[in-house]
Amino acid sequence: MTLQQAAPSSDTNARFRSVVHRMSGIILPDGKVSMVEQRLRRRVLETGQKGTDEYLQALMAGRLGAAEMDKAIDLITTNTTSFFRENAHFEYLSEVLLPRLLADSDLATPRLKLWSAACSEGAEAFTLAMVLAEAQRGGLSFDWAVLGTDISRSMVEKAQAGIYAADQVSTINPGLHDRYIMVPINNEDGGQVRIVPELRHKVRFLQMNLIDPTYPVDHDIDVIFIRNVLIYFNAEDRAQVVRRLQSHLRPGGYLVVGHSEGMSVKSEGLERVRPTIFRKI
Ligand SMILES: C[S@@+](CC[C@H](N)C(=O)[O-])C[C@H]1O[C@@H](n2cnc3c(N)ncnc32)[C@H](O)[C@@H]1O
Repeated sequence: MTLQQAAPSSDTNARFRSVVHRMSGIILPDGKVSMVEQRLRRRVLETGQKGTDEYLQALMAGRLGAAEMDKAIDLITTNTTSFFRENAHFEYLSEVLLPRLLADSDLATPRLKLWSAACSEGAEAFTLAMVLAEAQRGGLSFDWAVLGTDISRSMVEKAQAGIYAADQVSTINPGLHDRYIMVPINNEDGGQVRIVPELRHKVRFLQMNLIDPTYPVDHDIDVIFIRNVLIYFNAEDRAQVVRRLQSHLRPGGYLVVGHSEGMSVKSEGLERVRPTIFRKI
């Protein structure tokens, strides 16, 4: 079979979109269907399926195994991320939310739990960790833990390693870079750097699909970052995901969405404190 022979019909396209939606919640815009389909074409060939339809049917029936599902997810998702992305959120966390959350607690040493849901390769979760570690250095007394989750197993594994290309950490300011990024001992690793163990030990990552009906996560999270992923979902899934995430926040906890996502979040029990920041009532 050649790549040409596997070209999809419009029915296949519709089924394709529907399967992608069931797998991940992602709504592929018309302009992206053929691009993603093209990416999957190699998987069709390598798994010995007759065409895209057969591949998707076998995939959804579990006949191709979990590892193949992971590969398909990686070809469908967009994993763009960076350290201190949309930095206004991290400034607000450090200047407003952290002092407020700590003041709310009646424990001598409060323990804050933060969650980067859809964390990609971990830059958002480690940025949260740096902000928390800096607040401790600044004299605030508390303990903390960060959780990062993503549907992509390969992204979660990358996050767990905490290893990045040197140019990926260029958005971290020099002071924080000195404290939290380990400089490579030699150049054999092609200019890769690693997050210091002090942060890595406090940030846990697990694979999790936001479309699943339940999440294996505590229900007393203080702050959830769910940024730049709701845009890929339809209104119904978006509302459901927000409701589920909300149920994992403790009362008084905060939900932070991406700057292009604020207007689409409306949920009873969440009050808007900033265009993209919500507080659980
Ligand atoms: C554009 S990245 C955003 C990463 C990070 N939150 C940020 O703002 O930099 C979107 C991430 O959402 C993940 N994703 C897409 N659908 C998902 C789902 N159903 N459940 C969990 N993660 C999902 C993708 O794998 C990808 O890593």
